[in-house]
Amino acid sequence: MCGIVGYLGNRDAVPVLLSGLRRLEYRGYDSAGMAVIRGNGDLNVHKCKGRVADLEKHIEGKDTAATIGIAHTRWATHGEPNDCNAHPHLSQSGRIALVHNGIIENYRILKEALTEQGYTFRSTTDSEVFVNLIEYIQEANNCSLLEAVQQATKQVVGAYAIAVVDRDNPDQLIAVRQSSPLVIGIGEGEYFISSDAASVIEYTNDFVYLNDGEIALISRNVPVRVTTAENESCRVDISTLQLSISELEKGGYEHFMLKEIFEQPHTLQDCIRGRIDKQTYATVLSGVRDNKEHFLNARRIIIVACGTSWHAALIGKHFIESLCRIPVEVDYASEFRYRKPVIQSDDIVIAVSQSGETADTLAAVNLARKSGAFVYGVCNVVGSSIARATDSGTYIHVGPEIGVASTKAFTGQVTVLLLLAMAISHEKGIAQEDRCKAIAKEMLTLPQKLESTLERVTTEVQSLAKIFTYAHNFIYMGRGVNYPTALEGALKLKEISYIHAEGYPAAEMKHGPIALVDAEMPCVVIATPDATYDKTVSNMEEIKARGGKIVAVVAEEDTIASEIADYVIRVPAVSEYLMPIVVSIPLQLLAYHIAVNKGRDVDKPRNLAKSVTVE
Ligand code: F6R
Repeated sequence: MCGIVGYLGNRDAVPVLLSGLRRLEYRGYDSAGMAVIRGNGDLNVHKCKGRVADLEKHIEGKDTAATIGIAHTRWATHGEPNDCNAHPHLSQSGRIALVHNGIIENYRILKEALTEQGYTFRSTTDSEVFVNLIEYIQEANNCSLLEAVQQATKQVVGAYAIAVVDRDNPDQLIAVRQSSPLVIGIGEGEYFISSDAASVIEYTNDFVYLNDGEIALISRNVPVRVTTAENESCRVDISTLQLSISELEKGGYEHFMLKEIFEQPHTLQDCIRGRIDKQTYATVLSGVRDNKEHFLNARRIIIVACGTSWHAALIGKHFIESLCRIPVEVDYASEFRYRKPVIQSDDIVIAVSQSGETADTLAAVNLARKSGAFVYGVCNVVGSSIARATDSGTYIHVGPEIGVASTKAFTGQVTVLLLLAMAISHEKGIAQEDRCKAIAKEMLTLPQKLESTLERVTTEVQSLAKIFTYAHNFIYMGRGVNYPTALEGALKLKEISYIHAEGYPAAEMKHGPIALVDAEMPCVVIATPDATYDKTVSNMEEIKARGGKIVAVVAEEDTIASEIADYVIRVPAVSEYLMPIVVSIPLQLLAYHIAVNKGRDVDKPRNLAKSVTVE
């Protein structure tokens, strides 16, 4: 949700800002802009509705030479996407420029108060209120920009990250983090700020991760100083981030999403690496081993997540309940945080989040910690807010996911939740040891199976996508662990193709949704071998009897379901526990190819953004 980047150093700032914005575009892409302080002391703002590419065109031919600047790519919250609402916003005098990610909840009251003081507003954003508040405080108190920012943050309520520059001080950048991500990259005599360290990784690997409520004063050729709003000094720890630029490029694929689908054999390998003993097949996760007491004494596990991560969590519930015999509840983080949930000190709360920045999941984590539960994170982005706010955790290690629709992160989350269940079971020493070892042994062969699945199903799925490109509705069905897999398949299709799609537990069809079935309704049924296979086959018969068109995802040797179905996709016959990972491959490809056929912007679907840092 909005991306911020800033630069202060000796290079030309604009190429740094633009390359940072391009890498941050996954966070929002309805408008973009930048403010630079030129050598002659001018503070120039360039901004427009549209993508970063539109901003590049907008500044073409303009003299933008500067060594300090801030920039922004927007996902609109307050005010429609247009040139005026694009960031940066200038204070009334034109002296201070600000970029903002997040929401100022009390902006109306502040706006009224500033209006009474003679301030007028050009945009309909909450962000313009913030910059004018800073200017008002500075002028009223005749104080420094830092002091004005410190005072302003005490008056502003909400979740935000901001970067501020002052025309009269071209050697200073101020950055604030309050519940929205912000990092400072440290180079040789230069500084970068960004919503995501990956966006400036080509310039530096050294980062300071700001904590909530911290205000960084970045001055030319002076070490970064970090304070609170009360001007208390904070520790400045520099962490090194290992990330290669190739992980952030499309690498010859037409879209990031396709690249990320095809990366899964490798990402799975990275996810498993070092976690399964190749001699004994025991699963050991340091996060579980080091916190053994919590896992041994847990009376209940609650998993909180949003979107795709919530689907992974539902699958995780099956794994933990069946392999560890600990009751598991799965909650939408947004519901959990406002529901006054009963959380006890012997509960474990697991937060699942690719970005590690989702506002609702982070709030659920904070609530759980306050309530005394042990909180465990399953995140992808190293050093992210959720990863840092949890007591312990396991990274999924699938590398940067840039396509807005989550693919490799989903299979990584499912994999880690299975590893987690096996590791807990191992520590508990319960009777599932042999079963866990068999799953672990098979898991080691999974990357290769995913590779062959990709090879085999790609062309088949492309042909199927042609048949169904113009369908208006889809139903996805599955049972057990494949019910959440069906939910995820439906979510993939709707978010990138804009075709309405629903996921259902197959047996629920006859309780209502079957009324939708007719010859125009494609039904994707996951009918892989498990205890409910025969029941799923009966559900398929019921659909068939009503003229529905069935696409069945079945195991290699299947004969029964494949006979009933109109179209069949075969996947390797892996254990039930690993099936959601294998089945996801054709479902992701189906959504992808239908969206491409419809001419959709697959990596940047309308209205969406990756990393939902607002409520
Ligand atoms: C869908 C998708 C979203 C995210 C959700 C949570 O493809 O990506 O539904 O899963 O916004 O995001 P994270 O996992 O970053 O907390």
